[in-house]
Amino acid sequence: MTFDTTAHNSHMTHFDRRDSLWLFGYGSLIWKADFPFLERKPAWIEHWSRRFWQGSHDHRGTPEAPGRVVTLTQDKGARCDGMAYRIQPEVLRQLDIREKNGYLREVVPIHFTATRSAEGLIYLATPDNEAFLGEASLTAMAGQIADARGPSGSNREYLLNLELALHELGASDDHVSALAAALPVIR
Ligand code: BEZ
Repeated sequence: MTFDTTAHNSHMTHFDRRDSLWLFGYGSLIWKADFPFLERKPAWIEHWSRRFWQGSHDHRGTPEAPGRVVTLTQDKGARCDGMAYRIQPEVLRQLDIREKNGYLREVVPIHFTATRSAEGLIYLATPDNEAFLGEASLTAMAGQIADARGPSGSNREYLLNLELALHELGASDDHVSALAAALPVIR
């Protein structure tokens, strides 16, 4: 699979006939909603864990020095908190471009309360995409994040924004907190 997943995603027509659909954001989509939406609310998905395992060559790094951004890995019994947006299907075209670096649309159940859920979409980067970096030691991942910078800003800022956004949701994520705590101090 090539880096640019825009064409692949444009053939995914799952929600095209709906007036609106739910999109679950677990990374920058939590705090950076630069797309039109009809409503948003905190939500979670089950059996997925957030991980800084996807390379960013286009937003928080460069092809020469990629940053690390989040994707999800299947994890039975886990819960991943984030923000759900109700959007019109045509908004996906612009999100496909924003998230083109290896992310594919995936249909999942999104939970709003213990008793209310809806089928919706996530953007998921799986190990078979060329930008996937996978796991490394905490020190190595934090060092890479501390050093990387791309057109959307520093990778450090991305990690700290995510930690803050989760805190504001009343949520936490051990992986995100551990990486933020392991960031080398700026001198
Ligand atoms: C998210 O926030 O869910 C997200 C952002 C960028 C790429 C994939 C997912």
